[in-house]
Amino acid sequence: MPYDLVRPLLFSLDAETAHEFALCALAASGRVLPAKRLDAAAAVEVMGISFPNRIGLAAGLDKNGEAIDGLAWLGFGFLELGTVTPRPQPGNPRPRMFRLPEVKGIINRMGFNNHGVDALIANVSAAKYKGVLGINIGKNFDTPIERAADDYLAALDKVYPFAHYVTINISSPNTKNLRQLQDASELDDLLTRLKAAQTRLADVHGRYVPLALKIAPDLDDEQLGAIADALRRHRIDGVIATNTTLARDKIEGVRFSEQTGGLSGAPLFEASTAIVGKLSQALAGELPIIAAGGVFDARTARAKLDAGASLVQLLSGLVYRGPGLVRECVQATL
Ligand SMILES: Cc1cc2nc3c(=O)[nH]c(=O)nc-3n(C[C@H](O)[C@H](O)[C@H](O)COP(=O)(O)O)c2cc1C
Repeated sequence: MPYDLVRPLLFSLDAETAHEFALCALAASGRVLPAKRLDAAAAVEVMGISFPNRIGLAAGLDKNGEAIDGLAWLGFGFLELGTVTPRPQPGNPRPRMFRLPEVKGIINRMGFNNHGVDALIANVSAAKYKGVLGINIGKNFDTPIERAADDYLAALDKVYPFAHYVTINISSPNTKNLRQLQDASELDDLLTRLKAAQTRLADVHGRYVPLALKIAPDLDDEQLGAIADALRRHRIDGVIATNTTLARDKIEGVRFSEQTGGLSGAPLFEASTAIVGKLSQALAGELPIIAAGGVFDARTARAKLDAGASLVQLLSGLVYRGPGLVRECVQATL
């Protein structure tokens, strides 16, 4: 069914209900369809993984891996599930997701609502999908920030055998003090422990699974330089730029702009693309960049590659443009 017909129905519902409805429909279609196989003629190698195309699903849409097989049918070259935390947690009270249609934005303060890492692994194991899977991990809201590394390590241990790559999410604005982990000394400590765990797990499982760090768009040049330096020193395999923004300058006066949370979608495009550009300069090709933020069409997808990204993820664009956006972006980034 054309998305132009479905969208008014979804937009008549509150944002999170629409999201749940869409995810349910995808999960149901995934159950009846056979496993999706993609043509690998346009495959690209990034982080040592062969991606059938450059367009992926960003974390947050399928936090528990409930609709993997349905999502695969949209034509993504890779799917990133999560953020998942070691223990299940309910997230923040509703309402916690808001559409800002005048500016094609979304504000969310979900707060890592998820069923926990064990439930995610069960869903991944039950899926027919054999394509590239990223699993994005975070910390539980009630784990003190000084003990955050323990949560990342516990989740990494569990997801490692099921993921093609694992994303370390230290950039959600909706978990208290989480972004503090981007500061130089805390980041150094976290990356040291994660890298040691990765080396150990590669040995145990006989397979090297790359680690990607997901960063915020709200970083000044000095902070970004320090992060780039840490990524190189610790030989992290990739970086995802970016998560949602706390900035509101692009949406002043728009309904819901005062809501607490992270802003995504079109108003994030410029800032997140600028981060990709600066990172690309600082990293000089030493590790690949996966771009996310405000990709809504062929032009914005292409712009991420021009800024230095190797792969591109979508989320808010799917809400506004529907599944056709995937094909459009895949074509634009061949
Ligand atoms: C409702 C919603 C939930 C999200 N949840 C997560 C999450 O759990 N983990 C994460 O790393 N990013 C999460 N994100 C951020 C997206 O993965 C992405 O980085 C960001 O939205 C920018 O891309 P976009 O402009 O295409 O949406 C979420 C975004 C939205 C809109």
